[in-house]
Amino acid sequence: MAQGFFISKALGIVGILFAIASVSTIIALSVVYSQEKEKNLEASKTTPSAPITSAPTSSAPTTLDQSVPWNRYRLPKSLIPVHYKVTLKPNLTKDDQGLYTFWGQSSVQFVCKEATNVIIIHSNKLNYTMVEGHRVSLRGVNGSQPPGIDRTELVIPTQYLVVHLKGNLVVNSHYEMDSTFVGELADDLAGFYRSEYEEDGIKKVVATTQMQAADARKSFPCFDEPAMKATFDITLIHSSNLNAISNMPIKSSVSESAGWNTTAFETTPRMSTYLLAYIVSEFKAVEKKQDDVQIRIWARPKAIDAGHGDYALNVTGPILSFFAQHYNTSYPLPKSDQIGLPDFNAGAMENWGLVTYRENSLLYDDLSSSIGNKERVVTVIAHELAHQWFGNLVTVAWWNDLWLNEGFASYVEYLGADFAESSWKLKDLIVLNEVYRVMAIDALASSHPLSTPANEVNTPAQISELFDSITYSKGASVLRMLSSFLTEDLFKTGLASYLHAFSYNNTVYLDLWTHLQEAVDNQTAVKLPASVQTIMDRWILQMGFPVLTLNTVTGVLSQQHFLLDPTSNVSRPSQFDYLWIAPVSALKSGRQNYSTWLNGAKTETFEDFKVTGNDWILLNINVTGYYLVNYDEANWERLRNQLETNSSVIPVINRAQIIHDGFDLARAKHVSTTLALDNTLFLKNEVEYMPWQAALSSLSYFKLMFDRSEVNGPMKNYMKKQVTPLFEYFKNLTHNWTQRPPTLMEQYNEVNAISTACSNGLQECGELASGLFREWMNDSLHNPIHPNLRSTIYCNAISRGGEEEWNFAWNQYRNATLVTEADKLRSALACSQELWILQRYLSYTLDPNLIRKQDATSTITSISSNVIGQTLAWDFVRSNWKKLFQDYGGGSFSFSNLIQGVTQRFSTEFELKQLEQFKEENKDVGFGSGTRALEQALERTKANIKWVNENKALVLEWFTKNQ
Ligand SMILES: *[C@@H]1O[C@H](CO)[C@@H](O)[C@H](O)[C@H]1NC(C)=O
Ligand SMILES: *[C@@H]1O[C@H](CO)[C@@H](O)[C@H](O)[C@H]1NC(C)=O
Ligand SMILES: *[C@@H]1O[C@H](CO)[C@@H](O)[C@H](O)[C@H]1NC(C)=O
Ligand SMILES: *[C@@H]1O[C@H](CO)[C@@H](O)[C@H](O)[C@H]1NC(C)=O
Ligand SMILES: [Zn+2]
Repeated sequence: MAQGFFISKALGIVGILFAIASVSTIIALSVVYSQEKEKNLEASKTTPSAPITSAPTSSAPTTLDQSVPWNRYRLPKSLIPVHYKVTLKPNLTKDDQGLYTFWGQSSVQFVCKEATNVIIIHSNKLNYTMVEGHRVSLRGVNGSQPPGIDRTELVIPTQYLVVHLKGNLVVNSHYEMDSTFVGELADDLAGFYRSEYEEDGIKKVVATTQMQAADARKSFPCFDEPAMKATFDITLIHSSNLNAISNMPIKSSVSESAGWNTTAFETTPRMSTYLLAYIVSEFKAVEKKQDDVQIRIWARPKAIDAGHGDYALNVTGPILSFFAQHYNTSYPLPKSDQIGLPDFNAGAMENWGLVTYRENSLLYDDLSSSIGNKERVVTVIAHELAHQWFGNLVTVAWWNDLWLNEGFASYVEYLGADFAESSWKLKDLIVLNEVYRVMAIDALASSHPLSTPANEVNTPAQISELFDSITYSKGASVLRMLSSFLTEDLFKTGLASYLHAFSYNNTVYLDLWTHLQEAVDNQTAVKLPASVQTIMDRWILQMGFPVLTLNTVTGVLSQQHFLLDPTSNVSRPSQFDYLWIAPVSALKSGRQNYSTWLNGAKTETFEDFKVTGNDWILLNINVTGYYLVNYDEANWERLRNQLETNSSVIPVINRAQIIHDGFDLARAKHVSTTLALDNTLFLKNEVEYMPWQAALSSLSYFKLMFDRSEVNGPMKNYMKKQVTPLFEYFKNLTHNWTQRPPTLMEQYNEVNAISTACSNGLQECGELASGLFREWMNDSLHNPIHPNLRSTIYCNAISRGGEEEWNFAWNQYRNATLVTEADKLRSALACSQELWILQRYLSYTLDPNLIRKQDATSTITSISSNVIGQTLAWDFVRSNWKKLFQDYGGGSFSFSNLIQGVTQRFSTEFELKQLEQFKEENKDVGFGSGTRALEQALERTKANIKWVNENKALVLEWFTKNQ
């Protein structure tokens, strides 16, 4: 699954900070946010931040008597499904009780592997039609005689339909069980559900599915575990003017009664229930054929007519052929459908042959989408199509190995997208978007290992806890490292062998290691210091990652578990004592390359790594290793000299690495904060995106901590000085901002240049923003601002402007038809510098006619990220807590975002007192989903106070000296 959410830049920073904050008392410095760009932090379905939890350990509720198999969450192995015939008829009209329902009929054939007198099959929220007093009827296949049914029952906690028999089923005999049922076509985004949207003022309903992880059982009774693969005949009964699609092509569609069609689909290959999909809608498609595979992109008819599916159609063919070649396996199905659903809450889901997406992850509009939108589309498509083989054709046997499935797709999505957009250098971005992103979380004492033992994952809640950023981004990071030290060709050889061996079946992660090891053993060019498993165990069975410290005088390289908060205690023991076997690459003075291993020892001496004179050495080239690097001060200084004199000998990813690692190391007290700041001096000559992005991400914490203090002036002066050449560079490159630069990274960095220059007071930038915005105000039907630049131009123009600008933007917001455009305006409206305007805007958030309820908390959060609005927003939340909580409370996750947002700058004793008082005063009302966030805000405030005390004087001195 690829999940995500659309974020404007301002919201992006906040959202990511939350992701970090929600797991720790520290705001990690290694925060990477992306410009106008959605990230698939594919964690929880509705929230921007991943719920990071320690490995699930709770077992089944103790009230359930574990001695009977239907009280255990895992299916017994006695019955194995072979084939299902499922007919479903969704009704897209409400009934008298106001319910949307579907009717279904299912027949499952299974084989008995161990004699048993009970059939246990998953079923959730389905009402069965009784036949002869029972919910099901049972038939023998090929002459076998089934025992009679004694009784059936539904076991709610474990979501089973249990059929008690009068005698035993016979080993190796096949049986068929039939049932008829109704279920609710709810709007809960789970199982067979409905998605609603409005077009021309008319409400439309789509019947669609989201089975992963454990919701196929809400659509029909099934053995709902990924290893219980079977073949499926799906049939849909639907109104003749609607389209029905499913995993496989249509076999026949006949109109049996007027206005109704019965559409039967071809039999699927052997597959897991969580990958099933079926959709009834009025959507239409654009299509083409490639290598006998029919490719279609489905969406609302209006979106298709406007060409919004064309980009997805353009890139799907190349991506499919890339993966067919990469896996040395042709695409397993006769067709590939992809569909964009309005208000689909997950980012995307890799259902076999019918991938579902949020509209903004599939549809692209040349006129209003930014380059970030386009990157989002191509990478999510690549992620989901990668699963069509890895995940769908070969599937992990149980959810505890989800990290292999999702980590792999999150790695190769960069390769697939790179093939489709080869000029974009997408492969480099994995370092910012996955490696650094997840290091911020994995460097906390509360992190957890990638791999979880199978017996610790049982309940649906435990399964959904696994969808976190460790699973996705750390999985991607360590698989990239593995592929890099094996070489990509060797990795591909082992991968193809694994896929061929396990097609249509299930695996555990060790099976992949076995096939990679075979590939290693069959050649001599690549030599490893230990087996693939021995090396990888250290990265997947223990949490965290090391910092490698090199003494360039002695050549001694040492390793240590890296913790952002050096005072935190790691309570989780590791069988490997937090030591790693790490591939180490090095570059000496831009001339010599080395590649070797740190072989699990705490320290090791490398003669090659000694450096003399003005030479420098750089470790972890292109950051293929999942670790940080530290050096003696002299080598840091020589690296800095190189960067300031001629940075081009240092690879661009490593220019970002030097900045990123410096700030993380400073945070953890491995180096001084001034060393980290010194590492940003070369930016005055830097025009590349990655180093700038690393710096802006790290410095965003400095801004939060100091933008209300005397540090702010010198800090802004320094940033203005550093960014001015970049601003000039892009001004020339874009012919005075009239054209967009050619490459993706340049387009991203153009936005960085403008937003950094404007927010740090470069006069010319402010005039540019106000000028462009004025042009739009003069002719409101023609927005002259390029979609890439809108967020930052809107924000800065509103910030410099007054009531007139604000009111214009407000009207545009109220009339915006595109949600992406509305979101940009809504967050820009929070950029005003007028207290009274911000105060009025805050009051709008309590009126659902002005700001939709779902947007209220993120609007308040935007206001609080404006330094002027910070106190207003906090006072507003304090005085309206009860109302906010009552009106917007319930299960909404955004409460924790709200608390984290309004407290993110807190760094004084006074603020800590206020926060404690807030907690005390609202004890009776409660904090709901914000409870944990409040505790974290308290701890984070304390950590911030400490950090500011320790660093403020020297940071002030540094910025003053360098401004
Ligand atoms: C759908 O539900 C409505 C309202 O209950 C009912 O009138 C209609 O007959 C149903 N349609 C079908 C095809 O079952
Ligand atoms: C199933 O039965 C329950 C209990 O009678 C009822 O509340 C629910 O609405 C029914 N569901 C459907 C889809 O008919
Ligand atoms: C409905 O069935 C008829 C044949 O009876 C077929 O021509 C038509 O294409 C079908 N409509 C849909 C939407 O599948
Ligand atoms: C899709 O490809 C066609 C043909 O190469 C091209 O003309 C068109 O601009 C592309 N559309 C998009 C949205 O990239
Ligand atoms: Zn995925």
